[in-house]
Amino acid sequence: MLRLLTAGESHGRQITTILDGLPSGLRIDREALAQGMARRRVGYGRGPRQGLETDEVQVLSGVRFGHTTGAPVTLVVTNNEAGEWAQTLSAFGDPEAGIPQRISRPRPGHADLAGMFKYDHHDARDVLERASARESVGRVAAGEILRALLAALSVRVYSHVIQIGQAKADLQAVPPEEIAGRAEANDLRCAAGYEEMRREIESAMADGDTVGGVFEVVAEGLPPGLGSSMAPDRRLDAALGFALLSIPAVKGVEIGPALENAGRRGSRVHDEILPRPSGLPRRTGNRAGGLEGGMTNGEALVVRGAMKPLSTLRRPLRSIDLETNLPMEAAFERSDVCAVPAAGVIAEAVVMQVLTDAFLRAFSSDTMKRLEDSVGAYREELNERMRRAGEGGRK
Ligand SMILES: Cc1cc2nc3c(=O)[nH]c(=O)nc-3n(C[C@H](O)[C@H](O)[C@H](O)COP(=O)(O)O)c2cc1C
Repeated sequence: MLRLLTAGESHGRQITTILDGLPSGLRIDREALAQGMARRRVGYGRGPRQGLETDEVQVLSGVRFGHTTGAPVTLVVTNNEAGEWAQTLSAFGDPEAGIPQRISRPRPGHADLAGMFKYDHHDARDVLERASARESVGRVAAGEILRALLAALSVRVYSHVIQIGQAKADLQAVPPEEIAGRAEANDLRCAAGYEEMRREIESAMADGDTVGGVFEVVAEGLPPGLGSSMAPDRRLDAALGFALLSIPAVKGVEIGPALENAGRRGSRVHDEILPRPSGLPRRTGNRAGGLEGGMTNGEALVVRGAMKPLSTLRRPLRSIDLETNLPMEAAFERSDVCAVPAAGVIAEAVVMQVLTDAFLRAFSSDTMKRLEDSVGAYREELNERMRRAGEGGRK
């Protein structure tokens, strides 16, 4: 239902995003868009680039006087340093004039080697400029528009970091309603364990190394029944897995505490269903992460992404020079030491894309008004059903 395409090189003039399939009448707040973009740049352990970019979003189509028109929305984020890279990334420049920043020593863990073979490139630049996570700036911009759409449907999406390196957040003592606020208040975007996590990054930094970690995305306010168990490709779990794994360096996805659940008995995992005097039934927990049978079940959606340590190391690993086949150290260029907090923000964007798509599939609407009315009517229908069931039970 929703189509999203990005284009643009990491150090090129701009990242362009086209988002098609939005209903008309969605209000876009310029200030909220700017604030959303700033969240992606946050993160102790990011490289110097984050301080140089402003990530200002230009809206070039599909929005008029602050509201979507129903046409494809074009979003452009320009790169502040593009001028310095003009010769390196020139569309029609003369390669004989020299190619600065040429890379022939592939970094283990990055896209360099496989991409150079696949596309027959002799300069890894042709590969890494798109493999780079800079592309995600476009998806985050689109995500901020989707956040507005989901908010109109009473859905709220946030993320927080739960592990960096060996340091894990102990969330036992943190009230769930405080998690989002706490994460928003620090540069690791975590609700607990800040000092330990920061030490992991400092220690990797000192060693010329990198660290990965785990983030969690939560979506509250979803009605039951988004997604479907009727066909494998309509299962929401599958769409979320695809979306999260499309983020560079994310190598594992968990729905709720899936890995822990795998080692427990069913009686200790499944969230029992209890009646409520009014409204939807109550669950005894949310170990399902809000998904049952490929559908939202009315509880908060909780998905996690495991990010590997980044592959550009200041103390490079062994590699070869593809021009000579001689052993060499892998290439190094300005890089992050840890990008897990930013990955969480990107993950919010891709999760919002999946959720918006699921809403539009279930309640296809050309206008926001009709979409809001349909979702509202569905929520009311479920409440009414439980009310009638309750009356039957009391008889
Ligand atoms: C927010 C973010 C920032 C990243 N920054 C870097 C970086 O500075 N250096 C690096 O080597 N990889 C970085 N990566 C990861 C690479 O883009 C990724 O490892 C590479 O494209 C290879 O893809 P793969 O790890 O998914 O196999 C970053 C990823 C994300 C999500």
